Amino acid sequence: METRKPFTATLDPADIRIEADELRIAVPDAAMTVFDTYGAVIVELPTPPTPEDLVSLEKSLGPLWRHARSEENGIAVIEATGGDTGFLGTMSDEHPPHTDGAYSEVGPAIVLLSCEHAEAVGGESVLVSAAAVHEKLPAGHRARLYEPDAVTITRNGATARHAVFAEQDGLVRVRYRQDNHSSTESSCSEALAAMTAAVLDPASQFVTTLRRGDVLIVDNHAVLHGRRAFDRTSGRRRMLRLNFNGGGNQDVRSGFRPAG
Ligand SMILES: [Fe+2]
Repeated sequence: METRKPFTATLDPADIRIEADELRIAVPDAAMTVFDTYGAVIVELPTPPTPEDLVSLEKSLGPLWRHARSEENGIAVIEATGGDTGFLGTMSDEHPPHTDGAYSEVGPAIVLLSCEHAEAVGGESVLVSAAAVHEKLPAGHRARLYEPDAVTITRNGATARHAVFAEQDGLVRVRYRQDNHSSTESSCSEALAAMTAAVLDPASQFVTTLRRGDVLIVDNHAVLHGRRAFDRTSGRRRMLRLNFNGGGNQDVRSGFRPAG
């Protein structure tokens, strides 16, 4: 089976959706197969899983990776609370495609978003295949983005320097984030601009709407995720987000195998 197959805007939504009765302790095999293939899967459930059910997935997806904003149980609530907090999770602005934990040395292997309310207009989810972007970049630019000082990112006074692509055990992992809440300098600004152009190219972006009961599971090192802006006066939009470290009973590995 091909792992982390590159995809584009034209991916058939049915290819990454799997229905299931429940989601706890283990990810159903059929959903895991889709996850292995594309690095992303949407599990459709009759009702949203409880927080306890979501946390129980630690057994199969590896230990929870905790964000500064997550609650004690490891869950972060993504809901527009109003005002510019500088944290996109509490705002209704567009959130361009990125990897989670781009400010930390070791980001999580997995991003899980459980959709509890999706009544607001807009807020579509955007997924971008890092394998497809990697393949599309001119070789010179691509090589520059493997350099350890490719990106210097400053946020809230903290500075980190890192590569955009890093290879380990035959798998490439992507680490990427560009938004208005961080400032970025680069030793290879042209290469980074080419990457950003590829990520923002509508032809690269698979856009889908999460409905109540949908759980999106993404390989954070192979697929970028983001969301479109939404109208917070039009209805509620509430997601629960968990990050996992990978490993676990289902031996989840993150990253993609580059073409060629
Ligand atoms: Fe995110």
